Amino acid sequence: MGEARAARRFYIETYGCQMNAYDSQVIEGVLEAAGLEAVARPEDSDLIIINTCSVRDQAEQRVLGRISQLDGLRRGRRERLLLGVVGCMAQRLGPALFGGGRGRSRVDFVVGPLQYKRLPRILAQVEASPRPDAANYFTDFDDLVTYQAKPKSAPPGGTHFVAVMHGCDKFCAYCIVPYTRGRERSKDWREIVEEVELLAARGAFEVTLLGQTISSYAFAGVDFAGLLAKLHAVEGIQSIRFLTSYPTDMTPALFAAISALPKVGTGIHLPFQSGSNAILSAMNRRYRIEEYEAILAEGRREIPDLLYSTDIIVGYPGETEADFQATLDVVERQGFSAAFMFKYSPREGTLASRRGGAELPAAVKEERLARLSAAQDRQTQAVLAAQLGRELEILLDEPSKKDETRLRGRTRNNLRVIVEARPDLRIGMKIRVRPTAIAGTSLLADLADAAPGG
Ligand code: 5AD
Ligand code: SF4
Repeated sequence: MGEARAARRFYIETYGCQMNAYDSQVIEGVLEAAGLEAVARPEDSDLIIINTCSVRDQAEQRVLGRISQLDGLRRGRRERLLLGVVGCMAQRLGPALFGGGRGRSRVDFVVGPLQYKRLPRILAQVEASPRPDAANYFTDFDDLVTYQAKPKSAPPGGTHFVAVMHGCDKFCAYCIVPYTRGRERSKDWREIVEEVELLAARGAFEVTLLGQTISSYAFAGVDFAGLLAKLHAVEGIQSIRFLTSYPTDMTPALFAAISALPKVGTGIHLPFQSGSNAILSAMNRRYRIEEYEAILAEGRREIPDLLYSTDIIVGYPGETEADFQATLDVVERQGFSAAFMFKYSPREGTLASRRGGAELPAAVKEERLARLSAAQDRQTQAVLAAQLGRELEILLDEPSKKDETRLRGRTRNNLRVIVEARPDLRIGMKIRVRPTAIAGTSLLADLADAAPGG
């Protein structure tokens, strides 16, 4: 029997977005249910899985380098060590990934994001084939099996990702996601509630709901506001965050629902990508910047402590200095608590790349990105400075990464706050604090009841 040679210990390395982090837990769940064991180091495994991202070229180049490195582990090893690529690069590049690492590195199998539930069967097939070959790629879109799969049952920790929908129908001209993750599909709300109840029963106090365009969630008559209300009722869950919303899906009714559900976070991630209507239109974004800013204002009217974060692309083909200036203006006007800013990276197969507009020079993109992030840094500092001396409620969510004598928490509107650890403070507690200083993009705070004169 091939039994003795079968891969038993697996190692997963994850790149890219939170959805990939969640998917890696799905993969762990599927493989553990099939009797495999997760290990923390590639050297200790006989199966390496790299979960990949295609959103920008840089992300792909990093992974190709890593494939070569991991392939190197296999030289001089007597037992078979399988190497597989999953995720968006697997879907985008498919068979091209065989022999596709830098140098002469090879991968044994390639599995797209819609096929993870099938991994045990796929692995059996791969193990039975004597050498890697182009038949070992599994990127079908037609059956959406992955998302009936459950993540690993009890990863430790109080805060967890939960995917509630997958794929995207928006087809922004620059974006590869609709091609790598397929059409938008919402998960059955009953399964989501079950998943969150299970997490809560095992000690989770916070969930972050994930979806590419999460606010358009809809399943059997339950919309996103309805889903939030159902999850709000799950005992033990104290905080519900979500990302990412498409601007025009943030309706007044949804803002009102969030406002009425105190466990739901009021730090809302709402990418605008560009402040120029000409560029928004070229990007196939379905709003004008005036509408976007009106949506922000609507939310602020409904939810006074609301803070927005955003994503922005600079250097899209055709972006003039005036277009860029319009983006800068939005940043200066809106006071985002955070922004993720990217240089445009052409992705083969997208509308933008098929159109073949002239690329802006790298130096122009670089310079615009630098100006934009300097402007955003000032905004982030201003948002933090406005909190100093106020009394805030935070949910302690983890020990501080840098310093064991400190704990980290987050406000409802998603600002990070650091406090001194004390024997009576535990992760998962809500406490009232008074920020006294800014450290990077976090606030340092004292307990409100311990503050002088408090
Ligand atoms: N180039 C640069 N940034 C991109 N994004 C998506 N596609 C591209 C691309 N081709 C950014 C968008 C999106 C975020 C997740 O990544 O800002 O909101
Ligand atoms: Fe990509 Fe646009 Fe869909 Fe977001 S909404 S995943 S940027 S296509």
